[in-house]
Amino acid sequence: MQTSSSHLETRAVHGGMTGVRESGSHVPVIDFSTTNPLGDVETGGASYEELATGHDLGEGRSAVYQRLWQPGVARFEESLAGLEGTEGAVAFASGMAALAATLIASASAGRPHVVAVRPLYGGTDHVLASGLLGTEVTWVGPADITAAIRPDTGLVIVETPANPTLELLDIRAVADAAGEVPLLVDNTFATPVLQRPVEHGATLVLHSATKYLGGHGDVMGGVVAGDQEWVERLRQVRALTGGLLHPMAAYLLHRGLRTLPLRVRAQQETAAVLAERLLAHPAVARVHYPGLPGQDPAGLLGTQLEGPGSVIALDMVGGYEAAARFTESCELITHAVSLGGVDSLVQHPASLTHRPVAGEAKPGAGIVRLAIGLEHVDDLTSDLMAALDRAAEIGGLHDVAAAGVAAEQAAEVR
Ligand SMILES: Cc1ncc(COP(=O)(O)O)c(C=O)c1O
Repeated sequence: MQTSSSHLETRAVHGGMTGVRESGSHVPVIDFSTTNPLGDVETGGASYEELATGHDLGEGRSAVYQRLWQPGVARFEESLAGLEGTEGAVAFASGMAALAATLIASASAGRPHVVAVRPLYGGTDHVLASGLLGTEVTWVGPADITAAIRPDTGLVIVETPANPTLELLDIRAVADAAGEVPLLVDNTFATPVLQRPVEHGATLVLHSATKYLGGHGDVMGGVVAGDQEWVERLRQVRALTGGLLHPMAAYLLHRGLRTLPLRVRAQQETAAVLAERLLAHPAVARVHYPGLPGQDPAGLLGTQLEGPGSVIALDMVGGYEAAARFTESCELITHAVSLGGVDSLVQHPASLTHRPVAGEAKPGAGIVRLAIGLEHVDDLTSDLMAALDRAAEIGGLHDVAAAGVAAEQAAEVR
């Protein structure tokens, strides 16, 4: 039986399982129904009214229509909320659908202005910069959040660790700066295993569930966790705009949560070893990884963030050409966007995930992003070192000054 005082690992395994055992099953049954029997007309109408205004499915009520309520989606949401420590969560077809619903909820309540801190995931940056959903963004550094807030500011948006270069932000300080304005933290990189933003003052927590929550590169989804008031507003937006999660995706995401703590910690252990090994290669100018010396100046590791995670960014000595050669030379590691799955991936953010980001905020051309999976650390090391040797052939090693930065980092580690 899951209780709110259980340990996170136990909640991950047992969360969202209410009634499964009693129904005679060991795991939840996937319900693909798009519509549901209503009973008498009055009760059916009342069920519709409750769900369309964002309320929970009442005892003995009909779920009416899949866009309003889906039992497997509700299970995933309940489990995720239990891990994040929020009153509830609302799941969507993707991380971007989750973000879009949040922006729509905020703008339609008369607060279209967003204060955002870069770097953010490229898609998030793009949707904010374009104003596509009727929002208007002010980009600020963390120190300027309070000054940027206006009467019509509906959200402050940050991402920590940030995509792709893993900068850390002090969530408590950002929440204080945001004051009454709801703070949304994209927690995709950390997952609730390593960081629970609501414990540090955030209002909303967003995930691209496509990443660690699913964990196997075979399901898309997004989720926003928060208090009951936000949950109801977001459900309304979902019901009216239709960006809902498919029952099969909900099942896979719910199942993914059960192994999330194990996967996140095992991937992190490998990444920490690799980050140090990568420092030693002369083709690498800088390794971006919060676990390395000097990369957590605010001392957030061990307080806000339980560990540095399993994404590493490399700044290549030979710039774009070396980054491209390195990316294309990895063999065990697949050249593909995304992260958080069981297999390791490599990609060039400036060309892909962060391509739409405005020039001044775009990641450097020499940066590559590694998402470390569950392979053996030595096999990954061999693949990475061979690819770095190929990248070194580009001639980047002539840049002695840049190579010196990695050498200094390596010395600090030793
Ligand atoms: C940090 C972060 N937030 C949000 C998203 C968007 O999520 P999705 O691709 O599931 O729409 C991504 C996708 O890469 C991401 O990395």
